Amino acid sequence: MLLEGRVAVVTGAGRGLGREFALALASEGAAVVVNDIGVGLRGETTEEDPASAVCAEIEAVGGRAVPAHDSVADFEAAGRIVATAVDAFGAVDILVNNAGIVRDRTLVKMDEADFDAVVATHLKGAFNCARHAVPHMKAAGRGRIVNITSSAGLRGNFGQTNYAAAKAGIMGMTFVWALELARSGITVNALAPAGATRMTASLHGDGDEPPPTLDPALNAPLVAFLASDRAAHVNGQVFGRTDWSFTLFQHPKPVAWMHRDGGWDAATLADQFDTMLGAHLQPVGMVMPGGLSQDAARTP
Ligand SMILES: NC(=O)c1ccc[n+]([C@@H]2O[C@H](COP(=O)([O-])OP(=O)(O)OC[C@H]3O[C@@H](n4cnc5c(N)ncnc54)[C@H](O)[C@@H]3O)[C@@H](O)[C@H]2O)c1
Repeated sequence: MLLEGRVAVVTGAGRGLGREFALALASEGAAVVVNDIGVGLRGETTEEDPASAVCAEIEAVGGRAVPAHDSVADFEAAGRIVATAVDAFGAVDILVNNAGIVRDRTLVKMDEADFDAVVATHLKGAFNCARHAVPHMKAAGRGRIVNITSSAGLRGNFGQTNYAAAKAGIMGMTFVWALELARSGITVNALAPAGATRMTASLHGDGDEPPPTLDPALNAPLVAFLASDRAAHVNGQVFGRTDWSFTLFQHPKPVAWMHRDGGWDAATLADQFDTMLGAHLQPVGMVMPGGLSQDAARTP
């Protein structure tokens, strides 16, 4: 088992992908704090307690798990999630920042509350949990953080201003934390997953059975590996998952240069732009099956 004796916190682990991460980490030997406030897809309150249900699943097969019902979006509450791990199991070795909601709207229809709620859950939530967990990891001299991002944030997606902002921000934090924490034996990586959950239900036709390649469980082996000692050399990377594959994203980097000694003036830049940088414009939008992308970069 890859994670014998380790303690993991998985946020938003009552359903969907987070549940699969929690089950996989437990099956590799980790004790797991299953965090979930049981909200609806848009963050609306429900009476559900999926965190306790997942803990029961883990315990039923001989694993160790405790629920944590606080919201990642609240700084003090996130501290209680991390404290649950320390109180119940004596450590926090692994943090999977996964909790999330969506409130999709195009920019001109998105109201402030939709923006704030999504950013608070994904982006601030990841900061909140890491901020409380990392001091414990530093004291132990080891730690693993896996941040769940999305290709919507890495490349853009129609109707997801709030979500893309949060997910791109998570990628940025991943790079910063990877730099800051490597010397303490802590690695920080990101995964843009894929899986048929309630979050993606609207992408599949009503009643259509999703293809086997969208089984949410397919994401979990990479998280278990990244959480293990075997991945000590893997830091600051952004992974993806599609079809039967895990993928590695290239980091953003310059792909073309237009140089002029002494710098440019706007008129000369305008004259020469198309033959220099303009020849290398990049498509944006998520890459769809068949390699098609939502190409807006060249749209007049
Ligand atoms: N499903 C996909 O294909 C896909 C693709 C890219 C990224 N993601 C990301 O994966 C993660 C999991 O998504 P999912 O598809 O499993 O969605 P999901 O809606 O099935 O699960 C999300 C869980 O997070 C919980 N949650 C929401 N707000 C919370 C809060 N403030 N505190 C604690 N828990 C909270 C919810 O109750 C829910 O159980 C999200 O970060 C999502 O953005 C999913």
